[in-house]
Amino acid sequence: MRQLIIAGNWKMHKTITEAVSFAQELKSSLDNVGTGVEVVVCPPFTALAPVAEVLKGSSIALAAQNMHWEKQGAYTGEIAPAMLKEIGCKYVVLGHSERRQYFGETDENVNKKVMSALENQLIPILCVGETLEQREAGITEKTVEAQTVGALAGLSPEQVSNLVIAYEPVWAIGTGRTASDDDAQQVNNFIRRVIASKFGSNAAEAVRIQYGGSVKPGNAKGLMSQQDIDGALVGGASLKVEDFAGIIKNSL
Ligand code: G3P
Repeated sequence: MRQLIIAGNWKMHKTITEAVSFAQELKSSLDNVGTGVEVVVCPPFTALAPVAEVLKGSSIALAAQNMHWEKQGAYTGEIAPAMLKEIGCKYVVLGHSERRQYFGETDENVNKKVMSALENQLIPILCVGETLEQREAGITEKTVEAQTVGALAGLSPEQVSNLVIAYEPVWAIGTGRTASDDDAQQVNNFIRRVIASKFGSNAAEAVRIQYGGSVKPGNAKGLMSQQDIDGALVGGASLKVEDFAGIIKNSL
């Protein structure tokens, strides 16, 4: 049985003061949630260390929203994996559609980042998902398969087993237009079948596949009850404690 993993991707929100206050409130609100779900927060880089301090002793895990694949070097503005590990990150979100759209992230770069994250004992949360145009053109599965296979090139079945994949249809991100439970289940199941064909059934059974795209407290239960949905990657609804805690509690 795969443990649910629900991550809050704060994107470019929350100063350090806001982030610390949020983390303190979230920790209190989840005190008795139990171990049925793994909770992760993904603050901006500037707030990672202060939030890590607040989360010490709690089961809430820390994730970064991106990283470079190089160990160090002349890459102005970039963050190396070892810097994230030192701060206390357990996960790192890679290949988010906004990085693909606005910053030219390619499957090849995402693959380098996935490999580098694993080499630095960080667990990738690998984002894949089609645009509205691709869905309307009937190439959702072709798109998602290419992203998944491209990002995971060169990994062992064991490595794939331990990472997280987030299926995030671009047309559902920030739009309030959530994929239906069936649509999300169908694509997540397809991704799991792609993993099975490339890395074997053990890896396919073990890998956790989230859904992301307008997840809210009101739709969390239906989504999280799907056979191949093992959690959520939450944007807007992760910025308020009552909403994020509501998603978590409704997913149990
Ligand atoms: O990474 C999660 C994010 O892209 C989903 O955003 O606001 O639709 O929950 P949102």
